[in-house]
Amino acid sequence: MRVLHFLAASAVGALPLVKPVVADDCKTVTPLSDVDLTEFLRATWYTQQQQVVKFQSTDDLYCVAATYALENRTVPFFDGLVISVYNYATEDEVNGEPQNTADGMVLCARLEDANITGKLAVSPCWLPNIAAAPYWIVAIHADDDGKYDWAVISGGQPTELQDDGGCTTSTGSYAGGLWIFSRDPVASNQTLADAQAAAVDLGISLAELNDVPQDGCTYDGALIKPN
Ligand SMILES: *[C@@H]1O[C@H](CO)[C@@H](O)[C@H](O)[C@H]1NC(C)=O
Ligand SMILES: *[C@@H]1O[C@H](CO)[C@@H](O)[C@H](O)[C@H]1NC(C)=O
Ligand SMILES: *[C@@H]1O[C@H](CO)[C@@H](O)[C@H](O)[C@H]1NC(C)=O
Repeated sequence: MRVLHFLAASAVGALPLVKPVVADDCKTVTPLSDVDLTEFLRATWYTQQQQVVKFQSTDDLYCVAATYALENRTVPFFDGLVISVYNYATEDEVNGEPQNTADGMVLCARLEDANITGKLAVSPCWLPNIAAAPYWIVAIHADDDGKYDWAVISGGQPTELQDDGGCTTSTGSYAGGLWIFSRDPVASNQTLADAQAAAVDLGISLAELNDVPQDGCTYDGALIKPN
């Protein structure tokens, strides 16, 4: 059901994907240009905190995992790099009803400018890039072995000034969003604090973030790439 809801939401929300007005006091946020996508796609990312987006309500914010893969998928009117996106979550509780298993819906992330590897756009694969939502890797960290261990993803430029002086994308819209990813299913407090601090440095507000429980998750049915 949720998948259908997502499809409907994407189709409706995509037409047209209007550029929201940016509040005066919001810092300009830009995607990173030098993300190593091979490393980024190597292993599953576990969402530690995220904003609610229209296709993912707070009911679905359990055991959220994102796995990316190169599978030669194609999208309309585009011959650049397309990355398969497997978004997993469980409903209502840790290990609740799985929302999108490995054989469920796959989204397509498109790299529109090969020189800006942190700038992707995501939507169902049958939609053209113009209807895809911005997915910007705005901060990322590599450990001593060069393996990424956390990342901050913004659904485009934050536009709405919050009381803490930072900005969020518009909450609950089809595009937008903020995700704090970790390679460990349960991030250490230090990892979470580092990722949050990086977001705040960029002028991004944490005010609308929800905690995503991962402790005890078994990821039944999910496509998982081990770290
Ligand atoms: C993608 O296409 C390339 C070139 O045709 C091929 O070598 C590779 O095996 C394909 N990968 C997958 C996952 O299908
Ligand atoms: C990417 O960068 C290279 C080298 O700087 C440049 O030649 C090329 O035109 C750029 N490509 C795009 C799509 O901007
Ligand atoms: C983070 O800190 C809290 C409070 O000190 C502690 O209860 C929790 O277990 C810590 N989380 C992790 C993942 O270490």
